[in-house]
Amino acid sequence: AIFADAQQASISVAQSIRDLILEKQKHNKTAVLGLATGSTPTRVYEELVRMHQEEGLSFANVATFNLDEYYPMQPDSLQSYVRFMNEYLFDHIDIKRENIHIPDGLLDVSEINAFCQSYEEKITKLGGLDIQILGIGRTGHIGFNEPGSQASSRTRLISLDKITRVDAASDFFSEENVPRRALTMGVGTIIDAKKVILMAWGEGKSRIIHKAVEGEITDMVPATFLQNHPDTLVIVDEAAAAEL
Ligand code: GLP
Repeated sequence: AIFADAQQASISVAQSIRDLILEKQKHNKTAVLGLATGSTPTRVYEELVRMHQEEGLSFANVATFNLDEYYPMQPDSLQSYVRFMNEYLFDHIDIKRENIHIPDGLLDVSEINAFCQSYEEKITKLGGLDIQILGIGRTGHIGFNEPGSQASSRTRLISLDKITRVDAASDFFSEENVPRRALTMGVGTIIDAKKVILMAWGEGKSRIIHKAVEGEITDMVPATFLQNHPDTLVIVDEAAAAEL
């Protein structure tokens, strides 16, 4: 779907999330959301906060799983995704803290495998992700699944691509400060979601959106694996759609 601008597009994504939450509420069930960070989803979160504050939308029956986190990372650091999610969303809604899941940047290396396995099990136990929202990196990464990530990959520790670290440099005040690794859901974890919404705004994303949507399916552009997903919606503004 192509929208005139990111604002309109983001409102439509927030409405899909609201509809899911209300539908699950009716049946006393939990809505399981896969959430993303970065500049792309911020307006979706702003709209969800508005729906909570002005329309009384409740998140009491919502569980969330974030895609990724830098490793290592202190949760109170400026660049932490825990902090990002609290600031944009969680601090402003009535979600139960125990229903929030974000990969833990504080783990000891020896604890990582068990943590990643338990992250997957928690998703499965809740019946899987109902909606996974995604941005896309210049490398074609979804979450932090960099080129080379297999379609079957699960939650794990990965090494960040050079391009991703360059793109993150401004957040960390220099490329050297950008962590070399991250924890991320796998491509397989993402593909298992019942619905996937990939968002991209601005002309800087037009090249990679073209590759992701119309390019050959390859692990060199992990977002291309979404072409095999039965319910993926790609939502872009006109600038990001320029090469389609
Ligand atoms: C980071 C995140 C991704 C995100 C990407 C794009 O790498 N881990 O989930 O999609 O950045 O960021 P932005 O939305 O700021 O363009």
